[in-house]
Amino acid sequence: MGIAGYGKTEIRYDMFDMMRSAEEAKRFVKCERIYHRGQELAWDGKAILTMLEEKHGGIHIEDEAKKEALKRVFAIILWGELAAWKISAQLADRLVPLEAKMAATSQAHDEARHFYVMYDYLTKLDYVPERLDRAPQALLDLVLDTDELPYKILGMQLMIETIALTVFQTVRELGIEPVLCELMRYFERDEARHVGLGMQYLPTLMKKMNRRQVGALITFQARIMMWALWELKVLAPDFETLGLDPREVLERGRKKQLYALGEAFEAIGLSVQDSRNVAADGLVAVAEVLFPTEENRHSLRKRLAAAYSSYFGGDEEYDAEDFDVHRRHTIETARGATDTGETDDLDTAVVPSAAE
Ligand SMILES: [Fe+2]
Ligand SMILES: [Fe+2]
Repeated sequence: MGIAGYGKTEIRYDMFDMMRSAEEAKRFVKCERIYHRGQELAWDGKAILTMLEEKHGGIHIEDEAKKEALKRVFAIILWGELAAWKISAQLADRLVPLEAKMAATSQAHDEARHFYVMYDYLTKLDYVPERLDRAPQALLDLVLDTDELPYKILGMQLMIETIALTVFQTVRELGIEPVLCELMRYFERDEARHVGLGMQYLPTLMKKMNRRQVGALITFQARIMMWALWELKVLAPDFETLGLDPREVLERGRKKQLYALGEAFEAIGLSVQDSRNVAADGLVAVAEVLFPTEENRHSLRKRLAAAYSSYFGGDEEYDAEDFDVHRRHTIETARGATDTGETDDLDTAVVPSAAE
């Protein structure tokens, strides 16, 4: 703490000091763009929820079992949105470079909207707030409590956001309840932008790490994944009630994570596939044991064999399509504009080709 204007200060006069390569400069331009797009695309949660209720004649789920299952799944989303709000506010405070700080600040604004809209929606389904199960609580606490910025960004922007996107997309495609399905398009547009902060800024933090530190980061990632799997196991009966196959949810989430992590890791010359990302591969292995296929269900030996082969095998591609789907939704913004979705990469409109 400074005394009478002398000594240490929280004002980071060094925020513009960082030396940047052309490639890094391009990533920072994308971070800054996340803030400006967030401002252009901000939507009015109260107005949109009212508009959707009028359009569909209110919120109705006839099947009581489905309604309860939906409430349990989205209660996790509700508290997840609060955690995302707190974590992005932590990042808005702690990130130093201007552009990354702007992106995190814009995310905090979006997450506040997600939280109150989800609360309003769930209240209309007679949801009464209660404490989460142990697994989602532990997962969110890991990311909330860490003081390591790379851990926080990997956990929030690349892991939690991709899990949320997976649930939103799957519920939307299933058409469980029309107001919620349309609402998911709005959430997806925002969350896809938030993943962008992780993809663009994590490489800058990771390039300062030695091998041991990268290893520790991946161990942290594995801990998040273990809790995420446990959470999926707890929710499996609810997913089944809603007509979802937990294995498909898992596979879809894993692909999105591979894509988000792949982009971030490749920026510093690491390949998710080549480096045999222990956490990503381990997830598949554990999943084979927890969520066996029909064929393997009754044989532990077969399940372990499947786990082994998925752990050591696997040379798969991930692709941007898993992600672009979230960026193409049409939404009505608070400025009264209809936005028909991102058609380009976040940077194409603003980065001169010389930076390529
Ligand atoms: Fe959110
Ligand atoms: Fe988000």
